[in-house]
Amino acid sequence: MSSAPQVAVLRLEEDADVFAARQLARELAQVVGLDRIGATRLATAISELAREAAAAGGRLSFEVQGSGDLVATLTASHLPDDSPSMVSARRLLDTVTHEVADGLAVVRLEQRGVRPVTDAERHRVQRIVAAHAPTSPLDELQQQNAELLTLLDAVREKNAALETLNHELEETNRGVMALYSELSGELERTNQGVVALYAEIDEKNLQLTAASEAKSRFLRSISHELRTPVNSVLGLTGLLADPGAAPLSPEQGEQVAFIRASATELLSLVNELMDLAKAESGRLEPAWQDVDLAALCGELAGTTRALLREGVRLEVDPGPPGLVLRTDPDLVRHVLRNLLSNAAKFTTAGTVTLEVTQVDGVHGVDGVDGVDGADGADAAEGVEVRVRDTGIGMTEEEQALVFEEFFQVRTPLHATARGTGLGLPFARSVAQVLGGDIDVESAPGEGSSFTLRLPAGGAA
Ligand SMILES: Nc1ncnc2c1ncn2[C@@H]1O[C@H](COP(=O)(O)OP(=O)(O)OP(=O)(O)O)[C@@H](O)[C@H]1O
Ligand SMILES: [Mg+2]
Repeated sequence: MSSAPQVAVLRLEEDADVFAARQLARELAQVVGLDRIGATRLATAISELAREAAAAGGRLSFEVQGSGDLVATLTASHLPDDSPSMVSARRLLDTVTHEVADGLAVVRLEQRGVRPVTDAERHRVQRIVAAHAPTSPLDELQQQNAELLTLLDAVREKNAALETLNHELEETNRGVMALYSELSGELERTNQGVVALYAEIDEKNLQLTAASEAKSRFLRSISHELRTPVNSVLGLTGLLADPGAAPLSPEQGEQVAFIRASATELLSLVNELMDLAKAESGRLEPAWQDVDLAALCGELAGTTRALLREGVRLEVDPGPPGLVLRTDPDLVRHVLRNLLSNAAKFTTAGTVTLEVTQVDGVHGVDGVDGVDGADGADAAEGVEVRVRDTGIGMTEEEQALVFEEFFQVRTPLHATARGTGLGLPFARSVAQVLGGDIDVESAPGEGSSFTLRLPAGGAA
């Protein structure tokens, strides 16, 4: 491999030199690895310039620089920048520069990215230069014709390829247009469907709201109407059983006690219906205050123990010490009493557990903690109060229905445990009034777990 950059030098004085320049350029182009079209471009640019330079006495040299550049330098006493051969050279090659130094025009043609020239190749090229135009003009003409034919073939091939491409593009365009119009039609139909669906949903919503309002109104008025006569019955049984009143026979006394028990049960049912109607109609206004949850749990534990069946234990975990929640204590107590009385009713052995946990992060958002973190480590996003039992449990279908009014699973336990099926719907309505909700998890024969979730900051 040669380190000397200069490959060949040629004087340009007559027509034969022009042929030699062209041939030299072609040979060199092949040696450095240009393809046929690249070689023809270079040879044509060089021969055009050489023809004009030869008329004014010129010189052509080739170098291959280390970085892989083939540089042809052409000097002549007269070769203006706007001469026809310069214009042609610029059309054929990318890098053509022109300058005038010491009264001589210097033109540089550069071809980048060529491979280096070995010593043997350099010698061969130099022999061509030394032989000075080894081909006759006729041979050269033949050679140029062959080159022209190759170029023509290449152009024809390119044209054919372009035509095919155009054809394909046209077809693709037609396909895209067809797809587009099909999709827009589809979209329009879907949109119309969606709009109709929304209208239907709105209509149904209105109907549902009206139905729910009518139901609440009915519950409110019927329970209100019932309360007065039931209270009178209770009052009258009180009067009858009064020690100061006329004595009753033992049988009468038993019947009055029976009437009194039934009336008391009826009154509690009527009151529950009233509460439910109030919660549902949004008339239940929580009285917000800071509530000490541990104290509330202690209070509830006391009343729950009295309800437990024999052999059932109560466990209480009041959560982190000093946990205070802004909420309505009466309503929370009411909800939890419902959950605890259910747990006591439907558990014949094992444990009923009441536990409080503080919840950081946002409820229901994939368990991901809030990213703000600025309000300090103790800032609870809310509280969960769970009532778990090891009782009879429920199937999934039953769990889906227990929050509906008057729904009760038919079990042997219902014979001894009375109720109306209003406790859970009321508890859920109240939880929602407090900004939270109730969830259930359960498995038949294993037990149930009801979770009351409450937000930390009271009402939003
Ligand atoms: N902890 C539980 N274990 C098993 N079943 C339960 C439990 N809690 C509720 N259920 C089922 O859900 C039904 C509805 O409960 P809900 O509290 O609404 O009504 P209830 O307890 O039957 O009557 P009420 O609460 O009105 O006195 C119950 O009858 C029972 O079948
Ligand atoms: Mg209940």
